[in-house]
Amino acid sequence: MSFHRTTSFSLTLALLALTLFSCQPNGPKSDNKTAQNNTPTTAKSDWWKEAVVYQIYPRSFQDSDGDGLGDFKGSISRLDYVKNLGVDMVWLNPVYASPNKDNGYDISDYQNIMKEFGTMEDFDRLLNGFHERKIKVFMDLVVNHCSNEHEWFKSASASRESPYYNYFHWWPAENGKPPYRWSIFDEKGDAWEYNKATNSYYLHYFSDYQPDLNWENPKLREEIYKMMRFWLDKGIDGFRLDAIAFCSKDTNWPPLPEQYKGNWGMYYANGPHLHEYMQEMNREVFSKYNIATVAEALGDVEGVMKFVDPERKELNMAYSFEAIDFGYLPKEYKMPDPKGYDLVAWKKIYEKWTNAFETKGWGTMYLANHDQPRMLTRWGNDSPEFRDVSSKMLTTFVLSMRGTPYYYYGDEIGMNNIKFDKVEEYNDIELLTNYAQVKAKGGDLKRFLEGMKISSRDNGRTPMQWDNTLNSGFSTGAPWLKVNPNYTTVNVAAQQNDPASNLNYFRKMIQLRKNTPALIHGDWELIDAENPDVFAYLRTLDGKKVAVFLNFKAKQSTVRTDLDLTKAKVLLGNYTDPSATVTLRPYEALVLEL
Ligand code: GLC
Repeated sequence: MSFHRTTSFSLTLALLALTLFSCQPNGPKSDNKTAQNNTPTTAKSDWWKEAVVYQIYPRSFQDSDGDGLGDFKGSISRLDYVKNLGVDMVWLNPVYASPNKDNGYDISDYQNIMKEFGTMEDFDRLLNGFHERKIKVFMDLVVNHCSNEHEWFKSASASRESPYYNYFHWWPAENGKPPYRWSIFDEKGDAWEYNKATNSYYLHYFSDYQPDLNWENPKLREEIYKMMRFWLDKGIDGFRLDAIAFCSKDTNWPPLPEQYKGNWGMYYANGPHLHEYMQEMNREVFSKYNIATVAEALGDVEGVMKFVDPERKELNMAYSFEAIDFGYLPKEYKMPDPKGYDLVAWKKIYEKWTNAFETKGWGTMYLANHDQPRMLTRWGNDSPEFRDVSSKMLTTFVLSMRGTPYYYYGDEIGMNNIKFDKVEEYNDIELLTNYAQVKAKGGDLKRFLEGMKISSRDNGRTPMQWDNTLNSGFSTGAPWLKVNPNYTTVNVAAQQNDPASNLNYFRKMIQLRKNTPALIHGDWELIDAENPDVFAYLRTLDGKKVAVFLNFKAKQSTVRTDLDLTKAKVLLGNYTDPSATVTLRPYEALVLEL
């Protein structure tokens, strides 16, 4: 999701932390029911710090039955592919029963499987398949809201007497209009929707198909914990906590302060009891299993640290949004700045967050996911000349930073944005809502669509490009979202056996991270911070030093440093003939042991 608003409230949401998951070391069913692992100071409980996470968007990964939508049987047929990448954990986007208004982020039954993906037995086979290959699995936990088709909401919206009425937030209409709240995926921009049967308004921070659950109700929280235990008892290895920063609300509904404009996330997120609930969830659920958790959180470094400070016993990891939301024009919905992004300022954001997590807690590193465009287009250069080398440079970046790397399916082969021309080609509720809002205000739709070619979420959701056969080998039927036409050349089959391919570079970089403790646990320090073209840093552990030089520009650039490179050894580079030098070719990446 993005928290930018179409016009007056752009957001600079400082950060959304995704609380990640946890998984047990060996995978098999029930092994996760051992010790509490939320004391991340011992090697055993720190396994998630050393892991590389690969995110699979199941609806776009592999279809098995020709309906154009990915499914479990399809993913099962790709288990060995995932194994051969060398990753340790897989994050699956939501797989629960859902009417799919927001592609599974609107859950109608938390303990059942989305019928398009298969059955619970298919899910079990997929889970076991990963575990047999020593890959852990985390699930997306979407509990700030559910679907309006969930039985709880169906009952609650039928009568104020329903035992589920208080599972949601309501404003009785006899009290007049509810205090204004803004909704992310609502065309009218109004988070309160009138419900006739109860003569009250219900709250939805996302679309009106996604009513917010009332976390202030202990019964609701107990239901959620029960449901979490159901999945953990099945053997899953952890959770990514979706939009969790929103779950606690100030139910006095005070008027929004003026500063709300431009940063509404700060006023909606981190409600009064959020961290009490996280600690309760830890006590009631996480502490009983050897799992990992990651939060999608909002706020500044201090706020996000609350989720992951081990002493607080909440979650293990968190995502920050400040870096990923960088480089958009202010006060507009994800419109890229035509001047590009300022690398020096971007590096400072990483410095702030990385330094904070060096003192306590643990961070994450990602450049893409299902809410973002493809990293190659957004942060690299997808022109024919530079796509290969800049994609490898970004892979080097993600896998050499401090913090658990989250790597998005398809980035390993250098998939890039599809850049749709017409609004009809899009599927995403966020894009369609924002388009409708721009249209309603008489805004410049052409300009909006141009911007979306860079930033829209659907760019990152196109089907996996397996080979050059029909629909990239993803499906024999018409895919739910168009396949990028470059699949004929950019695909797994073409790269599988080419030692110089993006795919094999990704594998090598994973192995390098695993074999180089300084890249995982080492301190992190910027080199040549003011260099406008190069992102360079030093990782140090027990006297071992590894320097990483990344040229983010399409021209030769030089790192200014006093480091002695005369004895440096090149551990990996993205050109075929790398040498230990400060003069970098366009988009060159070098990992040097000093
Ligand atoms: C999270 C998800 C996003 C979804 C939103 C609402 O941000 O990552 O995909 O649209 O929550 O559930």
